[in-house]
Amino acid sequence: MPQSVSELAMDSRRNLFLALSLAIWIVGTCHADFTPADNYLINCGSMIDATIDQRVFQADNSGGAILTSSNSTAATTSPNLVAGFDSAMLYQSARIFSVASSYAFNLKSRGRHFVRLHFFPFKYQTYDLTTANFKVSTQDVVLLNNFTAPSSSSPVFREYSLNITRDMLILTFVPLVDGTQAFINAIEVISVPDDLITDSAQTVNPGQYLGLSMQPLQTSYRLNVGGAKVTPDNDTLWRTWATDESFFLNSTATKAVAFQGKLNYQKGLATQEDAPDSVYNTARQLLVQNNTSNMSNMTWQFNVDGRSSYLIRFHFCDIVGKAEYDLIFDVYVDGESASKDLDLSSASFGTLAAPYYMDIVLPSSDPSGKLSISIGPSSLNKAEPNGILNGLEIMKMNISTGSIVVVPPPSAPKKHLAVILGSVLGGVAAFIIAAVLCICCRRQKKPRTPPTSRPSSSWTPLNGLSFLTTGSRTTSRTTLTSATSGDTSYRIPFVVLQDATNHFDEQMVIGVGGFGKVYKAVMQDGSKLAVKRGNQKSHQGLREFRTEIELLSGLRHRHLVSLIGYCDEHNEMILVYEYMEKGTLKSHLYGSDMPPLSWKKRLEICIGAARGLHYLHTGFAKSIIHRDVKSANILLDENLLAKVSDFGLSKVGPEFDQTHVSTAVKGSFGYLDPEYFRRQKLTDKSDVYSFGVVLLEVICARPVIDPTLPREMINLAEWAIKWQKRGELDQIVDQRIAGTVRPEALRKFGETVEKCLAEYGVERPTMGDVLWNLEFVLQLQEAGPDMSNIDSMNQISELPSNAKRVVSSLELSTADESRTAVNYSDMSTSNAFSQLINAEGR
Ligand SMILES: *[C@@H]1O[C@H](CO)[C@@H](O)[C@H](O)[C@H]1NC(C)=O
Ligand SMILES: *[C@@H]1O[C@H](CO)[C@@H](O)[C@H](O)[C@H]1NC(C)=O
Ligand SMILES: *[C@@H]1O[C@H](CO)[C@@H](O)[C@H](O)[C@H]1NC(C)=O
Ligand SMILES: *[C@@H]1O[C@H](CO)[C@@H](O)[C@H](O)[C@H]1NC(C)=O
Ligand SMILES: *[C@@H]1O[C@H](CO)[C@@H](O)[C@H](O)[C@H]1NC(C)=O
Ligand SMILES: *[C@@H]1O[C@H](CO)[C@@H](O)[C@H](O)[C@H]1NC(C)=O
Ligand SMILES: *[C@@H]1O[C@H](CO)[C@@H](O)[C@H](O)[C@H]1NC(C)=O
Ligand SMILES: *[C@@H]1O[C@H](CO)[C@@H](O)[C@H](O)[C@H]1NC(C)=O
Ligand SMILES: *[C@@H]1O[C@H](CO)[C@@H](O)[C@H](O)[C@H]1NC(C)=O
Ligand SMILES: *[C@@H]1O[C@H](CO)[C@@H](O)[C@H](O)[C@H]1NC(C)=O
Repeated sequence: MPQSVSELAMDSRRNLFLALSLAIWIVGTCHADFTPADNYLINCGSMIDATIDQRVFQADNSGGAILTSSNSTAATTSPNLVAGFDSAMLYQSARIFSVASSYAFNLKSRGRHFVRLHFFPFKYQTYDLTTANFKVSTQDVVLLNNFTAPSSSSPVFREYSLNITRDMLILTFVPLVDGTQAFINAIEVISVPDDLITDSAQTVNPGQYLGLSMQPLQTSYRLNVGGAKVTPDNDTLWRTWATDESFFLNSTATKAVAFQGKLNYQKGLATQEDAPDSVYNTARQLLVQNNTSNMSNMTWQFNVDGRSSYLIRFHFCDIVGKAEYDLIFDVYVDGESASKDLDLSSASFGTLAAPYYMDIVLPSSDPSGKLSISIGPSSLNKAEPNGILNGLEIMKMNISTGSIVVVPPPSAPKKHLAVILGSVLGGVAAFIIAAVLCICCRRQKKPRTPPTSRPSSSWTPLNGLSFLTTGSRTTSRTTLTSATSGDTSYRIPFVVLQDATNHFDEQMVIGVGGFGKVYKAVMQDGSKLAVKRGNQKSHQGLREFRTEIELLSGLRHRHLVSLIGYCDEHNEMILVYEYMEKGTLKSHLYGSDMPPLSWKKRLEICIGAARGLHYLHTGFAKSIIHRDVKSANILLDENLLAKVSDFGLSKVGPEFDQTHVSTAVKGSFGYLDPEYFRRQKLTDKSDVYSFGVVLLEVICARPVIDPTLPREMINLAEWAIKWQKRGELDQIVDQRIAGTVRPEALRKFGETVEKCLAEYGVERPTMGDVLWNLEFVLQLQEAGPDMSNIDSMNQISELPSNAKRVVSSLELSTADESRTAVNYSDMSTSNAFSQLINAEGR
């Protein structure tokens, strides 16, 4: 190994630090009067605006936020009940939801926002809000799941810091238990300065954590240590800073200190937005004792979620030192050194009373659920025994898991994607679509500032996840650590992939396609990944490649194969996916000696794949079309859970797939939507068509194009649909399962396929309808004939009820060892193409 990973990390840390200091120095700190671009204050369920400390919380029907609900109730309670609380007026009213409902906020600025939720459960008419059990999610993060406000009759407050890169934030409230409700008393959505949370932080065992810029955070604790409570009206960003007494472990002599002079804000260090003066000019100090060797640490202890990572921000300001370079102390997190011999004067360019903060990421806290923070005397001889802390913020990094639900407002942008395809049909042997121009398919994003200060081989998490480098210089070791239930993807150093694939050893090849080869990679910690290495291409292709990867890396769903990362060093175009142990659905259906899947299992796999596709179509402001739905792109994990793979990549453009078989990305023979041929326009209904063909493959267990068969049987879709139209689908069911398929389930299944394969896109159901129909088929199969009279379509349209629910499991697939084998090898044969052309000429 030429250079160990930890060395690289150290280099990058130094560079980053220098660059950051310089950048911040230049930019300066002059935003004393910060005016947020977005400043939504909503008094939910109230008819009137509430003014609290000169901030106006608008009535929620007055047009500030867009309220979408088909069953909501405005509730109020007696002022006596809330009297005495801060912001009491907010708690007098609530909006109660009996169905999934949302508030949508048009945003003027992208980037970090505080999203604050205020809850106060009370009884109103027949509603008892203390029993309400619900979920709150944005389009990207589940903020609260299985949430019930404690009935201690005091308000519950939650604050999140989210980097929102969309035009609109939609907060969706979903009652989880039948007959209970969701509710909310007040909402704040406020943009904050971009540099409030920077991308990097130190880790406890000295190291660098990158990737905070996309990290959703939840404020767990925010303390004005040694000082008085700071209320929103006295904070530059309307935060609340609690006092530290109730967290302080009283074993050590300390004193609270306060400073009357003027603070020396330094360019490049903390600003008044990071914490107000009232935080920096008070502190708790170790009490200097007679005998220096008898000093101990001062310690605070917090209850935390032991499974989560935390970002801990220490606020310091040397308001006690009498001379520069006088105050040196140690900082500990959970008993581990977070900063040794911290010299505040050096950190603040030799000045006293200069506000300064330090960020520490604790990858996973103590399983006990206790987090301790200590400040102790330095062991340096020259140091006076001393130590202070001015403020402390503890932010949770894993917020909530569970499925994201979005109830879009009526005026939300229409979920359609116009794609202009220029297609070249060349000869009989190849079908090359030369250019795919995505005009409106790209999500509008602020252009990323190029990470100029980072060497290309550094660990560069795109979103949330981070590779943590641990171990000594000689035995560098990489561990995949996920930090959030949200987005996860990385730029991965080439050397790491080279190692993991044994220098791209042919023995490790698990699939081959037009783009190149797919290798199984075994990381040093034993985890497996699938590495798809594109043929090396031009720089232009690379740029598009990168942009698209960043978009795709945001897709996380239980039924989508996760893109773990990519590598674009040395003009490489490498994609790294989770490894799917059981290979493709296709390989389980025919052409291999694997045992046949049961009918029920097949249905479950279809339902899973349908869920994945439904999420692609509806989970985002602009729908994502897969373009190449086929049984070879439905992969199975070790539990035979279906995951859709290879979505969206065709947008990377022809460069990524320059070689002959563009079909790999642009659709495969036998699955292609006839309308796509005629109009060269791809819609989400093209995926529905292809999925219909997959359903036929599943029931008949034969290839979609089989040139060895008699002419009328070559094309599965054509052949099978004839049987279906005659009501004789049962004649062609896979013999191995035929005996177990209930006729009524098969009838429904056949109808669903037929609808999917309708000639025109408009006649085909949406993926959501297909999903519900398949679930109904499964019910029919399980429950038997007594259900067969129910008209499933009607039944189903009631299920999602008034709100269109976009349900998806965003459960974080934790980095378990069992990552997944990908079989990408499903190249359509060229002589099959002529058959298809013939088929399309009908
Ligand atoms: C709203 O929900 C409540 C409780 O679930 C129910 O009693 C009421 O009938 C619903 N109202 C409408 C208009 O659907
Ligand atoms: C919801 O929370 C309650 C109480 O915290 C717990 O008992 C229950 O198991 C949770 N339910 C789910 C589905 O997580
Ligand atoms: C928010 O995330 C985007 C990437 O999606 C990044 O470019 C931007 O810098 C982030 N903003 C902040 C304030 O961290
Ligand atoms: C908070 O602000 C009020 C005026 O709004 C002021 O009287 C008070 O002294 C401030 N408190 C602190 C701790 O700064
Ligand atoms: C902590 O110390 C204060 C006085 O400094 C004392 O009043 C209080 O009882 C102590 N608390 C505990 C838990 O020891
Ligand atoms: C320091 O020692 C003197 C006696 O040597 C004693 O009177 C005084 O209380 C001690 N101070 C502290 C803070 O322990
Ligand atoms: C401080 O206490 C230690 C024992 O705890 C003793 O050895 C040392 O002499 C004392 N130093 C002074 C200056 O009193
Ligand atoms: C050290 O300090 C503790 C209390 O802070 C006191 O009980 C103990 O007697 C001290 N020991 C010495 C050697 O001074
Ligand atoms: C402070 O705590 C750390 C970590 O628990 C420990 O190593 C150190 O010895 C302590 N220092 C003192 C003076 O007790
Ligand atoms: C929280 O994140 C850590 C890594 O940062 C990960 O190991 C852990 O599994 C996550 N916990 C949950 C509950 O998602």
